[in-house]
Amino acid sequence: MGSSVVGEPVVEVVDVTVRYGDVVALRRMSLSVGAGRVCGIIGMNGSGKSTLFRTITGLVRPDGGTVRLFGADPARSRRFGEVAYVPQAENVDWAFPLRVRDVVMMGRYGRMGRLRRARPADREAVAAALDQVELTELGGRQIGELSGGQRKRVFVARGIAQDARLLLLDEPFSGVDRASEATISALLRRRAEAGATVLIATHDLPALPSLADEAVLLHQRVLIHDTPTEVLRPEHLALAFSASSAVPDESTARG
Ligand SMILES: Nc1ncnc2c1ncn2[C@@H]1O[C@H](COP(=O)(O)OP(=O)(O)O)[C@@H](O)[C@H]1O
Ligand SMILES: [Mg+2]
Repeated sequence: MGSSVVGEPVVEVVDVTVRYGDVVALRRMSLSVGAGRVCGIIGMNGSGKSTLFRTITGLVRPDGGTVRLFGADPARSRRFGEVAYVPQAENVDWAFPLRVRDVVMMGRYGRMGRLRRARPADREAVAAALDQVELTELGGRQIGELSGGQRKRVFVARGIAQDARLLLLDEPFSGVDRASEATISALLRRRAEAGATVLIATHDLPALPSLADEAVLLHQRVLIHDTPTEVLRPEHLALAFSASSAVPDESTARG
């Protein structure tokens, strides 16, 4: 399949460079992902996975290149709540007295009026999302009282309640137990079958073939974009390590 896109392109990143001061996080990176696909993003720590998500969501402005979502300017799909984002680390005041249900309801804000008054449809969506991540019993609990894995699931539920056409999940499995990971994986697969597009950064490489339709090995740019099984071949994973060490090729130095 190589780099060809299956389905209508939903995410189109073209020639994007992102810098934080002197650090180059993405270097002329390009990636296309089609509708209804689950795309796993793998790469070592610091390879730019979170930066890619922040660029797609518009939280980070690229120094060069373009991002298009659903064939249009990303601002449009963000405005219509079509993009759900589950960040790697939530910048949340865990001591603030919010209940699990309140956080998941935030996923519905884009559909509410200025007064943010929840309608029955909103409550139903929240209940369904809580059910799908198996947190129904904890709906009334304060978020500060949750375990790390439960917190992750709350934010996945918020993304699900949003009913977005594009889901971006940055390491949703870290700190999550095996059973919850399986629950979330199955949930994402169902969303994709219903037409949603899912980009998911993960370190769980053995689970990748059952989770994702395609995979991307990232190191500032896309080193390989293929089926999970192909990307996971040892010689392909080794590309990420050799890219990071950036040892000069001695053979070219010989006169
Ligand atoms: N806010 C920031 N300020 C400065 N450097 C950053 C910031 N965020 C990320 N970086 C750097 O950008 C590179 C890519 O980081 P990141 O996108 O978080 O990678 P990953 O998610 O794959 O671990 C790393 O070198 C990281 O140190
Ligand atoms: Mg990250």
